[in-house]
Amino acid sequence: MATAKPLLSDLVAGKSHVPSNYIRPTYDRPNLNEVESFDGAIPLIDLQDLNGPNRSYIIEQIGLACRNYGFFQAKNHGISEAAIDNMLRVSREFFHLPESERLQSYSDDPMKTTRLSTSFNVRTEQVSSWRDYLRLHCHPLEKYMQEWPTNPPSFREDVGEYCRNARGLALRLLEAISESLGLEKDYIDKALGKHGQHMAINYYPPCPQPELTYGLPGHADPNVITVLLQDDVPGLQVLQNGKWVAVNPIPYTFIVNIGDQIQVLSNDRYKSVLHRAVVNCDKERISIPTFYCPSPDAVVGPAPQLIDADHPALYSNFAYSEYYQKFWNRGLMAETCLDMFKTSQP
Ligand code: OGA
Ligand code: NI
Repeated sequence: MATAKPLLSDLVAGKSHVPSNYIRPTYDRPNLNEVESFDGAIPLIDLQDLNGPNRSYIIEQIGLACRNYGFFQAKNHGISEAAIDNMLRVSREFFHLPESERLQSYSDDPMKTTRLSTSFNVRTEQVSSWRDYLRLHCHPLEKYMQEWPTNPPSFREDVGEYCRNARGLALRLLEAISESLGLEKDYIDKALGKHGQHMAINYYPPCPQPELTYGLPGHADPNVITVLLQDDVPGLQVLQNGKWVAVNPIPYTFIVNIGDQIQVLSNDRYKSVLHRAVVNCDKERISIPTFYCPSPDAVVGPAPQLIDADHPALYSNFAYSEYYQKFWNRGLMAETCLDMFKTSQP
């Protein structure tokens, strides 16, 4: 395999310039001094009462956030601080292992169910992104866990526990989102077939010239919902009214966003919003998105209850596997993949 130094973290250690293949054209740079940053950029929702007498109020808050922002932050979500600390710690330990150890998981084939890679899709992209990542399928857990790294020694245990927790949270959120759309509580659950759950552990090394490149360029997530855990280093930005807005980390809080499949299922009532990750000069950053998704054979389309004369179906039905392949093959471009599945409207 001709993969000398395939990982960014090993390629750039100690460099004072960004290698030329990471430099974006001038019209496609982060313009970091134009990015807005303020508290409350996206709603913060307390999930404490989701299973109590105030359920309908919380569901209304979730619905408003999905409709107006495509994003919200969740606190009192039921996942312990210890489980979160363990997940972040073992992720950091993994990316600090010697290169030869990490490379045992390396693959640039996006269809592999466990793989370490770099940038986004090195097989198809023109410009690279400032990121290494470990991608893991995690549902059903027993099926995939045996493919995962065994170093650090507690990796499977810590990540497995985190995945179970993240799945529980995703399922509660999907029920709430179904209800917020006026659908049966289990509508989305049933629409996802056998369900899928993937996770990325994103590692963004410090970057000598963060104005020239991205950790991840603007994109919409192709899945159903994403539940993001991040460390305390800022980097995530969300597009709001044409402007990039920074989402600064709040410890032990998750960031939840609507993916393309909820936009389809809701027939555009909820929006899958563009977001990106930028890098900085001083600090490495770790972010851990859980991508909850349909199983590959699930057929996705707008919910019939959300289609009527005033709201014609905006998408044709498709198998999720078809969508997922298109996402990886076309690369991260600002226009979302959704356009390829739109019905032709009069
Ligand atoms: C992603 C993503 C954001 C981040 O992996 O899809 O949007 O902050 N990550 O790393
Ligand atoms: Ni994303």
